[in-house]
Amino acid sequence: MENREKFYITTPIYYPSDNLHIGHAYCSVAADTMARFKKQQGYDTYFLTGTDEHGQKIERKAEAKGVTPQAYVDEIVRGIKELWKLMDVEYDDFIRTSDERHVKAVQKVFRRLYEQGDIYKGSYEGWYCTPCESFFTELQLKDGCCPDCGRPVEKTCEEAYFFRLNKYQDWLIDYIESHPDFIQPASRKNEMLNNFLRPGLSDLCVSRTSIKWGVPVDFDEKHTVYVWLDALTNYITALGYESADDSLYRRYWPADIHLVGKEIVRFHTIIWPIILHALDLPLPKQVFGHGWLVLDGMKMSKSLGNVVDPVVLCNRYGSDAIRYFLMREMPFGSDGQFSYEALLTRINADLANDLGNLVSRTVAMVEKYFDGAVPAHGEWNETDRALIALAEQTPAKVRAHMDELQFSIALQDIWQLIGDCNRYIDVNAPWVLCKTDEGRERLKTVMYALCECIRFAAVLIAPTMPETPARIMEQLGVDDAALAGWDSLGEFGRLAAGTKVQKGDALFPRIDIKKELADIVPAPAAVKKPEPAKQPQKKAEKQQDAVAQDGMITIDDFDRVKLRAARILTAEKVEGSDKLLKFTVGLGSNDPERTVVSGIAKFYTPEEMVGKQVVLVSNLMPAKLRGIRSEGMILCASDAADQALKLVTVEPGMEDGAYIR
Ligand code: MSP
Repeated sequence: MENREKFYITTPIYYPSDNLHIGHAYCSVAADTMARFKKQQGYDTYFLTGTDEHGQKIERKAEAKGVTPQAYVDEIVRGIKELWKLMDVEYDDFIRTSDERHVKAVQKVFRRLYEQGDIYKGSYEGWYCTPCESFFTELQLKDGCCPDCGRPVEKTCEEAYFFRLNKYQDWLIDYIESHPDFIQPASRKNEMLNNFLRPGLSDLCVSRTSIKWGVPVDFDEKHTVYVWLDALTNYITALGYESADDSLYRRYWPADIHLVGKEIVRFHTIIWPIILHALDLPLPKQVFGHGWLVLDGMKMSKSLGNVVDPVVLCNRYGSDAIRYFLMREMPFGSDGQFSYEALLTRINADLANDLGNLVSRTVAMVEKYFDGAVPAHGEWNETDRALIALAEQTPAKVRAHMDELQFSIALQDIWQLIGDCNRYIDVNAPWVLCKTDEGRERLKTVMYALCECIRFAAVLIAPTMPETPARIMEQLGVDDAALAGWDSLGEFGRLAAGTKVQKGDALFPRIDIKKELADIVPAPAAVKKPEPAKQPQKKAEKQQDAVAQDGMITIDDFDRVKLRAARILTAEKVEGSDKLLKFTVGLGSNDPERTVVSGIAKFYTPEEMVGKQVVLVSNLMPAKLRGIRSEGMILCASDAADQALKLVTVEPGMEDGAYIR
């Protein structure tokens, strides 16, 4: 074990405040898939997940329920562990920030940072958003409310300890610039540098006196360690850092990948590296910020009532189908829409048709034509050789894409092999070959090639779909574990002739999508619309002075138009139109990405648009252009004759998503 290369991967620790939804499951399934993949490759892997249990929100919820915070979180953590079991998320350890081992180690870390002068006592005055557990300065508030969730904030002023982030800012800028793989995808790295680090870091408040449910500062007990210092250290306390037995820490740290959602990249790439550096510890090799699973253009959240329950989905369609959908549907790193229709279409097309049919018809043909025994193959012809070459090349392609966390592309690689197998059947037409002696000889070769390709596919899908390979191998009659491992893909032809196949149930039964949608999709009324952003206080005199002149608008009229700085992330031509370009635009990591269609193709190419920061009318009613739903409008200046057109942009240095007013 010690000789093998190690691989340590983590998910964020989840807030145990509500039931987890499919968006949370997305992150855990990705981490689990990656861990299984590395294990398959022979790595000594360690996969950590857990729960982030402290803070005022939990304190208040427990109080409302009349139970202790510990009892409150214990119950929820039970549910979370059951969910991971249901979804085959197979972690090596589950850290809870209320664990004694964590609490003790956080206290030591806090004390050490204090003793070496990196933590000092000061006083905090600011605005606190309880649901987000975040402090904001007056300037950061949006219309007097929390800039992240839009809910009301509370004014607070109290004695607090601070961590000297500012002292390490220049070191961190240098580190990030000289380690291009540290923050992935690269766009998130630019966001961190431009939006947070270069404008300057303020020291971080790391204790509160008003919160009791947390880790007490052991040398000043009226203080409780405040959220991020407590939460982030889980990645090392779980390994026994600062405990009597730190062997796991010595074996697995630094982490190879911290997998996190895009809105918490900031904490993992600014606060966490600085804590580690101050402790003189090595930094994680990579922080990968994935996108969000979005429903109807909004991030899933319990308060909007638009959450999708992973338990319901897994019980209805099976955990492998849900895992496949999550990993296949959207490029990892970008946001992706969740819809029942997309889920069911994928299950039918990719799983029931492509994979399921391939297995069932191949096994049925081996039974029908060869009494259920895989025949020995004859000489390969050109068609066979093309299929075999693809099978032999696929593992390397999959590995390259998995190593970049491009799950969706890795699955496409596998489905290319599956698709080619189905085409191979059609081209070779076994139902014709079986009619002559010569044809039956050829058919042996065809059936062997298919069975071996199916074995390849079964091994390759295992990290994403842990339950299906065994069902395929059972139908193929393969019971030798050595034929189910990655190494068995090194050469085509290890499946023994004579292996007895055995027809089983359909791997993925076809779903009647129309009927299913009517059954499962919640009625539109069940989804609450988000509350409109609170309008800023209007001064009475402003209203009185407003003179209604022709074509004039009041400041309130203008205020209804929400203009925002938006980053063009992808751009492409709209098929069949010489005017339209289709964009994905980003509004920073606290908002979902959007699709916007704009009539500027005559003036800008897609390539020159990518990376630009533009001005977006962000609250324009969505409209369909050439069948594409466009969620906003990009502002341009054009001459009177509409012959020249220039984009409106913002001076460099402004964060994506900033409001323009
Ligand atoms: N407790 C903090 C993390 C501390 S890590 C030291 C936290 N918890 S969370 O429960 O709110 O979120 C956990 C993870 O779930 C985050 O990475 C977040 O991005 C992810 N997701 C929550 N909703 C999501 C979607 N709708 N889609 C994809 N991921 C989502 O943040």
